[in-house]
Amino acid sequence: MKQFKVAVIAGDGIGPEVINEGVKVLNKVAELDSGFQFDFTYFPWGSEFYAKNGKMMDDNGIEQLKEFDAIYLGAVGFPGVPDHISLWDLLLKIRKNFDQYVNIRPVKLLKGAQLPLVDVKREDINMLFIRENSEGEYSGAGEWLFKGKEHEVVLQNSVFSRKGTERIIRYAFETAKKEGRTLTSISKANALNYSMVFWDQVFDEVSLEYPEVETASYLVDAAAMLMIKDPKRFEVVVTSNLFGDILTDLGAALAGGIGLAAGANINPERNYPSMFEPIHGSAPDIAGKGIANPLATIWSASQMLDFFGYEMYGKVVLEAIEQLLLEGDVLTSDMKGTGSTSEVGDRVTEIIKYIMSSNDVK
Ligand code: NAD
Ligand code: IPM
Ligand code: MN
Repeated sequence: MKQFKVAVIAGDGIGPEVINEGVKVLNKVAELDSGFQFDFTYFPWGSEFYAKNGKMMDDNGIEQLKEFDAIYLGAVGFPGVPDHISLWDLLLKIRKNFDQYVNIRPVKLLKGAQLPLVDVKREDINMLFIRENSEGEYSGAGEWLFKGKEHEVVLQNSVFSRKGTERIIRYAFETAKKEGRTLTSISKANALNYSMVFWDQVFDEVSLEYPEVETASYLVDAAAMLMIKDPKRFEVVVTSNLFGDILTDLGAALAGGIGLAAGANINPERNYPSMFEPIHGSAPDIAGKGIANPLATIWSASQMLDFFGYEMYGKVVLEAIEQLLLEGDVLTSDMKGTGSTSEVGDRVTEIIKYIMSSNDVK
């Protein structure tokens, strides 16, 4: 039987709570298919591990992860460990070392999720963000000069390489072409007179190779406004690491809330494992209460199924989430329900079972 080896890094705060439900869903899908199974290996890395060992992961952690088909991650970062240490030594380290340069974040308002805006139709909120995930504003390079002195200066460098910029833009064009949708580039060349001038230039160059893809380009400030005022303008969207980070939290607010926003960190060449995770963090304010919304993590499980070539099951998982939202009686408090994290996961698996037994999914 086919086996997918998945490394689970549940991480901090609500991470383990939501990951449990995602694992439940993946196991249910595999059980109902019976042609493949998941072999999950849990890694105890995160802020508690740091408190005990003075590091966020094992020294050879990246080596250990290399042999997996995918990584499933909950959340990283918790009060007590400075965020730049916990994130750079675990989450960002994995994204970088495994060259997961494509971050796919759907901003799609599912059936049953609450419409957040007046005068906007459900189908108007259907974007696919493709965020550059390996360099840009997240190069990690910088300098702290004259620390503590009157003339202290801190530099944080952005790096936009030809290779890094071209490959993400090309990936976005390929996606837009395949899906028959428009492609919007979001940048900021009026103020960022090197990086974003370069970004726009590369976008224009690559666009010549895709005459069939209709394009648009916005400055990031205007894009933030237009995502609220006129979201249907945005279909496939490509943007830099930092802009993509910020705009996809805005997107989450448009598409059912942060508890429903999923992301896939993809290494398209498949030289290394890709990583699937919700886009939210460890939510220290609600951690340990069993009330975190697991739907974002479950949606990212659907992305993992797509990645493994089981798009039909990826679709079933999304349909199950929609069905749960339409029913509306088992939801967590962020969606105005009274359900617990595990009740939501249980209900999703029940619905999956129902869908898969009543349709010929394969
Ligand atoms: P956050 O996403 O953890 O929380 C923001 C708000 O959203 C909080 O009110 C929280 O309760 C709520 N929320 C988040 N996820 C939820 C869910 N599944 N269900 C219900 N409510 C949810 O962002 P933050 O507070 O800015 O960050 C907390 C920590 O997480 C920080 O250390 C940050 O660096 C880290 N972080 C990690 C990741 C990641 O691992 N991918 C992503 C973002 C933030
Ligand atoms: C995200 C997160 C991370 C990011 C942080 C935790 C480093 O906010 O995945 O959206 O900025 O990429
Ligand atoms: Mn973020």
